[in-house]
Amino acid sequence: MLDLEPYSARLGGKTGIYPYKIKVDRYLSDLRGYFLEEQIVEEMLSRNENPLIYTVYEISREFEGEFNVGCTIIYPGKIGDEYYFTKGHYHAKEQTSEVYVGLSGEGIILMQNREGRTFAEEIKPKTVVYIPPGFAHRSINTGKTRLVFLAIYPSNSGHDYETIMRTGFTKIVVERDGKPTLIDNPKYRKKL
Ligand SMILES: [Fe+2]
Repeated sequence: MLDLEPYSARLGGKTGIYPYKIKVDRYLSDLRGYFLEEQIVEEMLSRNENPLIYTVYEISREFEGEFNVGCTIIYPGKIGDEYYFTKGHYHAKEQTSEVYVGLSGEGIILMQNREGRTFAEEIKPKTVVYIPPGFAHRSINTGKTRLVFLAIYPSNSGHDYETIMRTGFTKIVVERDGKPTLIDNPKYRKKL
């Protein structure tokens, strides 16, 4: 038998969850090539403007059958008209799913399978979003405050960032007339 111990953690505060085990910061330079307006990104980086886009605080676990619990904070902001978002990924282990629970702020979860079938769900406090196996997922902060949500997923699910980075999502979320709007992604490529 594995010698495992339970834990509890508190939601809220600066880090979204505390205590946590791992902290990952993603700056604009980590999201090179992800936004529609690539030239704006390159201009910003050449001026040494490299804003923090999101941070993940995570309590990771080691063994199959365990859950990782992560709290993602996406800061408010846009590149051109496009709201800040997470890179997005498929799970390396195809059969694994994930549950998101909104804690504060407001945003959208984009979910897309390998055939390009795409769903968009709102995420905000008291919202639960289920991501089925086989769907890449990206979160977008469409509000003026931090978007904070909890993610619970199998510890052995792994991350495949490559595939969705190469195709892109079919949709992007931009501000139109002051409102978040889903539009077709002109850079989406169906074939890898
Ligand atoms: Fe995931």
